[in-house]
Parts: sequence; C-alpha cells; structure tokens
Amino acid sequence: MGKKIFSGVQPTGNLHLGNYLGAIKNFVHLSNDIDNNCIFCVVDLHSITVKQDPKELRNNIRETVATFVASGIDPKKSIIFNQSRVSAHSEAAWIFSCVARMGWLNRMTQFKEKAGKDKEKASIGLFSYPVLMAADILLYDATHVPVGDDQKQHLELCRDIAQKFNNDFQIDDFFKIPEPLIQKQFSRIMSLKDGTKKMSKSDLSDFSRINLTDSSDEIINKIKKAKTDIMPMPVSQKELEKRLEAKNLIGIFSSIADIDLEKIIKRYSGKNFSEFKKDLSQVIVDKIYPISKEIKKLMGDTVYLDKILSDGCDKASEIASKKIKKIHEIMGF
Ligand code: TYM
Repeated sequence: MGKKIFSGVQPTGNLHLGNYLGAIKNFVHLSNDIDNNCIFCVVDLHSITVKQDPKELRNNIRETVATFVASGIDPKKSIIFNQSRVSAHSEAAWIFSCVARMGWLNRMTQFKEKAGKDKEKASIGLFSYPVLMAADILLYDATHVPVGDDQKQHLELCRDIAQKFNNDFQIDDFFKIPEPLIQKQFSRIMSLKDGTKKMSKSDLSDFSRINLTDSSDEIINKIKKAKTDIMPMPVSQKELEKRLEAKNLIGIFSSIADIDLEKIIKRYSGKNFSEFKKDLSQVIVDKIYPISKEIKKLMGDTVYLDKILSDGCDKASEIASKKIKKIHEIMGF
C-alpha cells in the first residue's frame, strides 16, 4: 500500500545542502513513487517564531516552492501549499497545545538551542513550535514524515500528542501514529566550518553552508575553504569517528553522488585533501547548479508559483477542514 507522506520546510531563505540531502532529496524520491500521496508544506507560520520581514517572507515562500519544483517534485502529482492559508493548522495547534504537557515541551532540545541563553525573550511560538508541527502532520493522517535527524524529537512529540488524544477521547486510531523517515546515513549535514555544528540557515558565516542558490564559483570556493585537519585523507571508516570535518565532507560526497562511503574512502585513502575537495566541488556543482539555475528561472514566473500554491491550498483545505470538523465533534464543540 502507498504511503501518506507529509513534510514541511520553513521559508526562511538560504535553503542549503543540509535541507537538500537531509530532507528534499528524499521528498523527491518518495514523490516519484506513484503509490504514495505526498503533501509538502511551506511552513510560513513556523517561520514567524522568529522575526521576519514581510517582503522577504513573501519572496522566501515563493523561493521554497521554486526549490521543491526545481529539485524534482511535480506539483501536479504532489500537493504543495503554504500553511498560513489553511486555517485548520492554527486551530488544531491550539487544541493540541491543550493536549501536550509542559514537561514534554520542556525536553525539546531545539528550543533550548534556538532560544539560547535568553529564554525569557524567546517567543511563545518558538516554545510551542512542535505542537504546530503535530497539527500539520495529524490533520492529513500522514503515515510517514521524511525529515532530517534534528526533527526526530519533534516527531516523537507528535506521536505522543496523537496517542494522548486518542486515549483521552477513547477513539482508537482517530489520529494515525506517524513514522519518521530519517535516512540511516548523513541525516545530519554539518557546518563546513565546524564538524560539531549542524549546517544551518541561521549561521552567520555564509562559508558554513552551500546554499541551493550558490553559483558554481561560490560552491568551489566554499569547499576549498571548508575546514579539514592536517592529516591526509582517512584510510578507514573507523578513523572518521574522530575526524568530524573529514567525516562530514566524505558523507556529503557519498550522499550527493550516491556512492558507498567505503568506496570513497578507498579511492582517496592517504591522499591529500585538495584532490578530494576538487572532485567534491565537482559532484556538488553537477547536482546543485541545475537546481539553482531552475530556481532562478522559476522565480521569474511568480504567476506560476502562486498558482501552484493556490491549487495546493484548495486541495489541502479540503482534507484538513474535514479532519478539523471531526475533531470539533469529538471534543464537543
Ligand atoms: P526546516 O526548514 O528547519 O528544515 C527543513 C528540513 O531540512 C532538514 N535539515 C537538515 N537535514 C540534515 N542536515 C542538516 N544540517 C539540516 N538542516 C535542516 C530538517 O530536518 C527538515 O526536515 N520543523 C521542520 C519543518 C516542519 C515540518 C512539519 C517537518 C514544520 N512542520 C511537519 C515535517 C512535518 C524543520 O525543521 O524545518
């Protein structure tokens, strides 16, 4: 039987290689299976958990759609829409915020990382972020949710909310318990400047990431400057455990070129990094440049992008409004 797939990406600009290898590449793969029903959401409500400039946000919403399409998601086969236009998401998020417990949310590591030292100044939305995520997923009875490794905890919370709701109202199976789809390898792409930090849109240094809109020259330059260590290329997988930057770069190579890690290690074993980096830039350029070119082209056709969103919103609203109606009935509204 086909899967019901749901996933989301924030329109905060600077979509990068981590988003691509950790999530979008898998979206494309799953959406190419005709048995699957796929919904990909531009989660604009999530993005406002930190301050956004309205003009930039509007542009970033379109750019996220363009990235989906340029990466290979067919908007005729999959639903692509933006969250804020389907009001059921906000409604369900409120209801779920009355189901979820403070203790559950207090354990979320992403909030701790994002809020930093000054938790008092973080928005309430940043704290309840995963509750809105649960609304996204559960409204569509999604069975599988492709995400990068950093979202694992949020999906566990979503499962807990679904289970508690089903138990509280004694309706087995009203909410499906979704399975995370996290790639076994390279589900966490690290910064090019620090192998202990996740590649992230919010990193101040643009050299920490490869953006999906980077030019070939920018990609080559960033890989050239990527942090490594003073030793030659590793000779075994075991060695990678202590050499995080090398591990990350070899992982990126393996994931983007679909070549087994062991083969790459063998090919470059004991050589110096410069030869490897030259080839790595080439495989990234080969994959990312066509996507970046297509994003730029699509961004010139805002009518097309807006049409994808409005068609997607119609389809998503139809599904979500039926589910929220049932939720209301169950709850006694
Ligand atoms: P966002 O926009 O922060 O990230 C989008 C996707 O990219 C993955 N990702 C990474 N994967 C590997 N390495 C990295 N360095 C890296 N950085 C980001 C994320 O895991 C994610 O899959 N909260 C979600 C958005 C969301 C969502 C949902 C996802 C909202 N509602 C419902 C699934 C289902 C997020 O992280 O967005």
